[in-house]
Amino acid sequence: MLFFKSLAVLSTLAFGALSGLAAPAGTTETGLVARCDCDSLPNIIAVLKDDISVSVGAIAAITPANCTVDALTPVVVDIKAKVNVAITAIGKLSGQPLDVVIGAGIDVNAFAAIVADLVVFIFTAIRVCLTVCVGVNVSAVLALLCGLGEVIGALIVAILHVCAGLFVGLDVAIFGLIGVVVDVIVKLNVSVIISVFGIVL
Ligand SMILES: *[C@@H]1O[C@H](CO)[C@@H](O)[C@H](O)[C@H]1NC(C)=O
Repeated sequence: MLFFKSLAVLSTLAFGALSGLAAPAGTTETGLVARCDCDSLPNIIAVLKDDISVSVGAIAAITPANCTVDALTPVVVDIKAKVNVAITAIGKLSGQPLDVVIGAGIDVNAFAAIVADLVVFIFTAIRVCLTVCVGVNVSAVLALLCGLGEVIGALIVAILHVCAGLFVGLDVAIFGLIGVVVDVIVKLNVSVIISVFGIVL
């Protein structure tokens, strides 16, 4: 059974997880945030997906022979670093209007699909890895993959934070599209994602 936390709880969590986002940069004397020449969220996500595709592919192509912490660590470190670059870029969008944050012609459902596509892409690869690695080294590998899941959780929190007040119902829309990987998220016990969507275990 699933339920969604209120937006107030969600934004408290978002502020807590990413306190650096709380004060938008470039605030003018009038208290308005100056328009920034920032990359939009759909662009940031598209670039990220492209940048991590080789490493995510290496996780999806794991075999019993290389299902080891040694083989997986550089790949996971690479993905985490690129996700963190994206989180920093997303932080610069804090307080910006919808046309800067998202761009024109993308509604809440279309944007939710962009986010969900990335989340499903990563957790589907993790699912393959969990399946192949069973019995090989599983607890150490689980810890590594859980750390990766937490960074994806921080990315989702950053996205929801920047979209709060612009896209009502974004969390519900994303959650509705990631159902195929919820079992992986629960299996890894990725606490950020479990909290943000209010997944009842
Ligand atoms: C594991 O080995 C397969 C087959 O050689 C390769 O395609 C994949 O990229 C490797 N993955 C990692 C994480 O080293």
